[in-house]
Order: sequence, then C-alpha cells, then structure tokens
Amino acid sequence: MFTHQQHLEHLLQPDDYTSPAQYQRELQRLFYPAWHPLCTIHDLAQPGDFLTFDLLETPILLRNFGGQLRAFLNVCPHRHSRLTDEVRGRSAALRCQYHGWEFNHEGRTGKIPDAKAFRPWDRANSCLRRFRLETCGEVVFVNLSEEGPSLREWLGPLWERWHSSFGGAYRYATTWEADFACNWKVVLENSLESYHIPMVHPQTFKDMPPEEVAWHELERTFTTFKTIIPNDWVNRRQAHIVRLLGEQPTWEYWHYNRHPHLTVSTLDVNRLVMCVFPTGPTTCRYRSILFTLRGKKSGPLAWAAYRLLRPIVVYVAKKVFAEDGRLYPAVQRGLEASPHRGVIGTREERIYYFQRFVWEHTRDTRDISPTVTDGDHAA
Ligand code: FES
Ligand SMILES: [Fe+2]
Repeated sequence: MFTHQQHLEHLLQPDDYTSPAQYQRELQRLFYPAWHPLCTIHDLAQPGDFLTFDLLETPILLRNFGGQLRAFLNVCPHRHSRLTDEVRGRSAALRCQYHGWEFNHEGRTGKIPDAKAFRPWDRANSCLRRFRLETCGEVVFVNLSEEGPSLREWLGPLWERWHSSFGGAYRYATTWEADFACNWKVVLENSLESYHIPMVHPQTFKDMPPEEVAWHELERTFTTFKTIIPNDWVNRRQAHIVRLLGEQPTWEYWHYNRHPHLTVSTLDVNRLVMCVFPTGPTTCRYRSILFTLRGKKSGPLAWAAYRLLRPIVVYVAKKVFAEDGRLYPAVQRGLEASPHRGVIGTREERIYYFQRFVWEHTRDTRDISPTVTDGDHAA
C-alpha cells in the first residue's frame, strides 16, 4: 500500500547530478554532518590493526590501540605526509612513514627521532586530528565533524531496529566495494524503488511485489520499505535453513534509508549495510558490509547449515549488486543530456522523500515543492 495515489514531482533536476557546486554543497551540508559505516570490529580485532580510507576527500586512518578503536586524519603534523599509504595492516606503533614520528591513542606525539631539533616544542602543531568513532552492533561508524548528534541520536528509531542485527544471531561475512561512473544519488535512488526489478533483476528477484504487500514509512530523516517474500520453492528451502539454525522465519524483507546515504536491507538470512559515498560530482564509491544468519543453535547440523547458507547469500548479494551496477553509467549519461524534468511514480515515493532531504539541505531558499506536507506520513 503506497502512501501517495498520484505521481510526485522529481524535485532534483539533471544539473543536481552533475554540478560541481551541488557536489560541494552536498559534501558540506549532507555528508560532513553524517555518520559513515566503514568497517566492522573484526577488521580491527587485534591491537595495532589499522585501516585507511579516502572518505569524502579526507584521508583517514582507523586503528586499534590496545582494544580502543580510534579514527584520525591520516596526515602528519610534521610536514604533512600521509602517515601510511597501506590500505590495511598491523604495526606495533602508529609511526609516520616519512621521518618516523610516533603517536599515541590520543593522537599526541610519542617518540620523535632527533627530538632536540624541534626545540622549543610547538605543542599546538603536534597532535593528529581526531574524528568521532562509534559502533552500532559490530559496525564501525565515523563522523568527520567535531560536533553534532551521537550515532545513536543520528539513527533515531533505526538504532533499536538495527543494533542487535549487526552481530549476535548474524555473523559478519564479507565487505566489498566498487567505484561507479555516476553521481552518488543515482545509486541511492535505485535502491529506493522496486519498480526496476522486472527489467534489471529478472532472475534474482523476478517481479516487483504487488502493492498489497508493499509498505512504506516516509519520515523526514529516513524511509523504509517492507514486503513479504513469495512462498515459493527457493524461499521455503531458505525458511527450512532458518529453522535449522534455531530461528523462526518471518518471511519479511525490509529496506531502510537513513538520509542521505546509508541503507540497510534485511531478510531472515542476512543483514546488509550499504553506503554510497560521492568521490566527485559524477563518480561515487559503493560499499557493502554483509552479515549472514548463524542463529542460536549449536551442533554439527546447524554448523553445516550456516556454512552452506553463507556462500549462497554472499553470491546472491553480489549478483544483485552487479546487476544494478550495470545501469548506473547509463543513467548518468542520460542525466547529462536530459531535457526532461523527470517524474516519480507512487511505487517510487521513497525517492521523493530522499530528494526532499537533499533539496532542503542544499537549497538556500526553502521554496520547497508543496506536493507533500510535513505531516504526510505513512501509517
Ligand atoms: S612528515 Fe611525518 S614524520 Fe615527517
Ligand atoms: Fe536493484
């Protein structure tokens, strides 16, 4: 049951998917205040484990200091080198690769080669820049702004729905990412509608769910989609495995979008965190972190079911990811030549709420389209 009975205005125009000025506004107003899922605690399990990312034009380094996870700008205060160029690794100390300055868990300097050469000590220019880091379940989030809501506040009601899912009965399986030649909103909007299923996923999903079993929640900071998966042969086998693992199948599929860029999908057999990051006006990077059901049952049968299920879930998730990925460059090229204003169907109504969030944060005037009012939410 969709909330709207008539089509909606495509608030964002083709220029919003190509313009360097819009990209800069989105970085400043949408992305720097947001929380970003980057990895899991398993990626930083041992003291000294580290990962580096280029996140929103910002080089960052995550590291385990004796069990404490920290995020720093991956830039040395001495003469600006990246501390490390390795993507991941383990080291006894956080040491800059250029002249060997070392830093502790607070980002303060430790050992400095030939330290007397720096007398008097410039304390104001000696610390690494630190970023906020928090976890939701086993997923590690980073925020690049100094102030703002905690992760829990930022997620709002989604925190309760998610935090026990990333871990617990669901075990971390894998992370993958890909760069796409399209604006980040092309990827995000694709994930918000089931309308493309028959054309893009004819084997994996087959058909779009009928409106009677499609429910949307449409809120200012997030939207959700819920459906009931078909009672067919494949899904009955899947439900059997869920029971072998000691859980009760719900037959529900959920998809969430915390505006702007964070999405999570859930089935009885998995929890999938997907996040899309702009890397330029017309390029983006899409990262997925997948958990598969382990359940509470122990014993060889449950273990075998888990080991059977996990590669199948990973295979299907990556296949769907690739099927969608083939379309993104075509959508981008179309946007760059389009004379049209676009239109959003009732099945695609979540896109309107996503676009409204982007619009409100990146337009300097609040002359927002009157098509939908603030109180116009799904039941
Ligand atoms: S630039 Fe890092 S120690 Fe010199
Ligand atoms: Fe898709």
